[in-house]
Amino acid sequence: MTAARLPAVHTNPHWRGCRCVVCGRMYGTDYEGFVCEDCGIDGILDAEYDLQALAALTRTEAAAWSAHPGASGLWRFADLLPVQPEADHHGWNVAGLPPVAAPRLADHLGLRTLVLKDDTRLPSGSLKDRAAAVAVARAVQLGLDHIACASTGNAAASLAVLAARAGLRSSIFVPAAAPRAKLAQLLIHGANLVRVDGTYDQTFEISLGQITANRWYSRNCAHNPLLVEGKKTAILELVRDWGGAPGTAGAAPDVVMVPVGDGCIISSVAKGLQELHTLGVIDRLPRVIGVQAAGAAPLATAWGACTAEPAAMSGREILAAIEPVQPNTLADSISVGIPRNRVKAWKYVARTGGAFLSVPDEAILEAIGLLARLAGVFAEPSGAAGLAGALSARAQGLIGDHDQVAVMVTGNGLKDIDAALKTVTVPEPIPPTA
Ligand SMILES: Cc1ncc(COP(=O)(O)O)c(C=O)c1O
Ligand SMILES: [Zn+2]
Repeated sequence: MTAARLPAVHTNPHWRGCRCVVCGRMYGTDYEGFVCEDCGIDGILDAEYDLQALAALTRTEAAAWSAHPGASGLWRFADLLPVQPEADHHGWNVAGLPPVAAPRLADHLGLRTLVLKDDTRLPSGSLKDRAAAVAVARAVQLGLDHIACASTGNAAASLAVLAARAGLRSSIFVPAAAPRAKLAQLLIHGANLVRVDGTYDQTFEISLGQITANRWYSRNCAHNPLLVEGKKTAILELVRDWGGAPGTAGAAPDVVMVPVGDGCIISSVAKGLQELHTLGVIDRLPRVIGVQAAGAAPLATAWGACTAEPAAMSGREILAAIEPVQPNTLADSISVGIPRNRVKAWKYVARTGGAFLSVPDEAILEAIGLLARLAGVFAEPSGAAGLAGALSARAQGLIGDHDQVAVMVTGNGLKDIDAALKTVTVPEPIPPTA
């Protein structure tokens, strides 16, 4: 089998297993399921590490916390990942680029510091490559050579690209409405593509049935808790690179803006920050603010209507507070009616003192242009939603004059040029005469 020809992958000795975010039941590292046996699909699991033992290791102390011996890219953070490849490989060696300072955007928002974590530059053009890298490594560890997922596009593209690099097979279920550039990316990398004439939520259900029936490895971040761990490396890199000497204790932004669909990326950002805080790498928790499109904002709506203390709510109270919606936004990657990771996202965001808010599609389109003109970064609508949220948070007073702000830019604008073309005017041709 192809997987056997790749470098071996072992379990992180400090990974303790996964805990259900609803009932708290703990599962060992050998648990083969993805969600809690008692809570079903709502029982999303959350990976836990022996942070006390990690804090005691020399390499997690200030100067060296982000340098796992011999590793590059996102595997520099292998101490905080569930699996650890024994050697670099093209199929999982991604990420590691420094963030982009955006002083002209900062001026536009009246801020001192605004930094972009620009993941449009990853191999498939989105942050999802971080999750796919961990999925490929885990599949290899389990001896599986076929990985599958349902996706609005980017998770799928990341799987198609990294599976091609590793020589594994991929099956991908997408809603028929996915932008053409994303479909092209899947097909050209040789993925087996299944287009579903329905919503993302329906596509997800169909993929689950096929994954179970065929014993494929699931790269559905919506329920596979190990993928959130891969995404976590975006914030770990950002903190490593944040001002001062790398690894300087205490250096971190005040606020991190994150676009939200299923709630996996924002869970990973807030979780990563919490782990760094527990390890003593940062001395305070940045506020993590989740941004949804107004036409697909179940978390932001529930957050705004919440009369309880968000951080004190139980998993079941959070589930009851969030109503599904019929999604309607041009930001296809965050067009999600009921975020699968809603409990995890809510709990972690609440612990950081952050919030969820929503922005109209017009604000997202405006943010695409601002990012491009003032920072030279071309984002797809969902990728620009974090900046649209920063403008809104600034207007609402959630971001103050002295806050240092980081914005996660999660997907490349070339994936959805129709959206970008809505924000500009293509000039009429002139006659070909001087
Ligand atoms: C570019 C981009 N931004 C944001 C998101 C939202 O991430 P999540 O579904 O983890 O909330 C996605 C998910 O597909 C995405 O592709
Ligand atoms: Zn449970």
